[in-house]
Amino acid sequence: MRIRLAERCGFCFGVKRAIDMAGAVLEKGRKIYSLGSLIHNKQVVEKLSAKGLKVVDGIGRIKSGTVVISSHGLSPGTAARIRKKNIRIVDTTCPFVLNAQRIARYLSGEGYSVIIVGDVKHPEVKALIDFASGRATVIRDARAAERLDPAENSRVSVISQTTQSMDNFIEVASAILAKRAKEVRIFNTICRDAECRQDAARRLARSVDVMLVVGGRHSANTRRLYEVCRKILPRTHLIENERGMRPEWFRKAKEVGITSGASTPDWIIKKVVTALNSKRKGRL
Ligand code: F3S
Repeated sequence: MRIRLAERCGFCFGVKRAIDMAGAVLEKGRKIYSLGSLIHNKQVVEKLSAKGLKVVDGIGRIKSGTVVISSHGLSPGTAARIRKKNIRIVDTTCPFVLNAQRIARYLSGEGYSVIIVGDVKHPEVKALIDFASGRATVIRDARAAERLDPAENSRVSVISQTTQSMDNFIEVASAILAKRAKEVRIFNTICRDAECRQDAARRLARSVDVMLVVGGRHSANTRRLYEVCRKILPRTHLIENERGMRPEWFRKAKEVGITSGASTPDWIIKKVVTALNSKRKGRL
């Protein structure tokens, strides 16, 4: 059985930057908090927690110290509340996410209703809604777009959560164009890394027998990779680490492809490869 890694695996630039920034703060200070998980990878968050990072759900109980904002960004309202309490902010928001936030704010300021293609429960999308100052509608797919009913003479804009798949974004944008609003502005805010990662995973899924997507189950870009690969290859499996593999997945498989979410560290991918090599020797 041959093991092949996708051309793009491991941390993306935004996640690596967030971890480095958090690491630098943890080296110097105490009382360091993150609002929710800094990144969507349990094992990495556990390592950061061991160095002193406290993950909290809200700022209610924080009285002093430093809050690290995750690469997904933060709503302007929450950021203002943190500043009011005189708590230091270390903002690791990914530049691609900042770009989407700037565009959401600009479009709502110009009077457009803002349609965000994404997952309404994701922290990035929650912040984007706030940047659009209440003019945002979040939809997942083209079916939901078909149910929208823009008023005659309406001015509509479409942006995307940074980790969405380009295919889905195009489908939604096309469905909205078909609604014939007076004016439609479409901004491609999908992150370049997410797009390249999906393309590389797609190429690999087309040429292997089994595909493994390694990453956190709560990670949006990991789930997107899984969906993209599964459309091509039903024998695609999402695992958080090497312990999630099942021997029956690899029956008669000659080639196994591996891709990973943007918040999956190299050491987890290496453990998956090592476990697969054991399988070749009949020990999985
Ligand atoms: Fe940023 Fe894209 Fe990573 S939005 S956090 S570089 S997946």
